[in-house]
Amino acid sequence: MRASTFCAAYAASLLQQLASARPARDCAGAAGKPPAFFLAGDSTTAHDGGWGDGLLATLRGPEAWGVNIGQSGATTVSYVHGGNWTNITAHLREYAATYDSYVTISFGHNDQKPANNVPFDQYQANLIKFAEEVKSLGGTPLLTSSLTRRVFESEHNATDSLHNERLAAIKAANVTGSPIIDLNAASLKYVNTIGEDAAQAYNWGPTDRTHLNPWGTVVFGRMVADLIVRELPCLESWITRNETLSYQIWNGLPA
Ligand SMILES: *[C@@H]1O[C@H](CO)[C@@H](O)[C@H](O)[C@H]1NC(C)=O
Ligand SMILES: *[C@@H]1O[C@H](CO)[C@@H](O)[C@H](O)[C@H]1NC(C)=O
Ligand SMILES: *[C@@H]1O[C@H](CO)[C@@H](O)[C@H](O)[C@H]1NC(C)=O
Ligand SMILES: *[C@@H]1O[C@H](CO)[C@@H](O)[C@H](O)[C@H]1NC(C)=O
Ligand SMILES: *[C@@H]1O[C@H](CO)[C@@H](O)[C@H](O)[C@H]1NC(C)=O
Repeated sequence: MRASTFCAAYAASLLQQLASARPARDCAGAAGKPPAFFLAGDSTTAHDGGWGDGLLATLRGPEAWGVNIGQSGATTVSYVHGGNWTNITAHLREYAATYDSYVTISFGHNDQKPANNVPFDQYQANLIKFAEEVKSLGGTPLLTSSLTRRVFESEHNATDSLHNERLAAIKAANVTGSPIIDLNAASLKYVNTIGEDAAQAYNWGPTDRTHLNPWGTVVFGRMVADLIVRELPCLESWITRNETLSYQIWNGLPA
């Protein structure tokens, strides 16, 4: 392709991207209410091993606050059967009137395991159901694609083992008109750029490449916070900054 043709094609694709970019959302009807975050998910969100506590640590309290209701081992089915989803809806019923309420929804690591018997279509439908229920209770669902595992094919190629689960989260966001917090894409890109050796610094333990140690919680919690502000700039004033860490994350430097 000649350079000028390439430039023209590039400009056209940029224009197309701009045209199709969704308008920045406002904090619909929040009217100055501080945000509250209720985190629904599996162990990659949960206290001790997930990014959830890292996200909550970025909130400007005490006005902005949240609860990590990530449950280790949960699928979109067991989360409901075990009563954890009721905890999310109870929080919405109690706080949606007084707080600009958000529910992060991040599942897939366990749903994808054949032993758990959650067919992909059911997983997809459950994500949509969760998002619809959050909306019906006055909250905003934040479909959050799964944190990547740090298992690699080669130094700069992490195994894309949650590819379909990511697409399901994107589809659920699309179908329900909700923001997509594309953690899977961002975390995969980040660990691919820093490479396998550097990426092991965030692991829960030497043989656990799924869960996060306390530093990994800070780093990937910050990544989620930055992605949320990108989708919902109106939340920026409620989230503390760490320019150094954000710079490292978004420029592919080991943190
Ligand atoms: C809801 O989840 C939080 C966080 O795990 C927990 O402290 C609380 O006891 C739960 N509440 C109910 C009613 O299960
Ligand atoms: C999820 O529900 C189970 C079963 O009721 C409970 O033991 C667990 O503490 C809950 N998890 C969270 C994070 O609240
Ligand atoms: C990463 O590895 C997978 C599986 O071997 C392969 O299909 C893919 O092409 C690789 N990607 C890159 C960018 O090398
Ligand atoms: C869903 O995706 C289609 C194209 O695949 C797009 O036209 C539509 O605007 C999207 N809807 C939302 C709510 O993002
Ligand atoms: C901010 O980022 C720096 C650089 O990565 C890190 O050393 C520090 O612990 C971070 N502070 C917080 C509060 O996250």
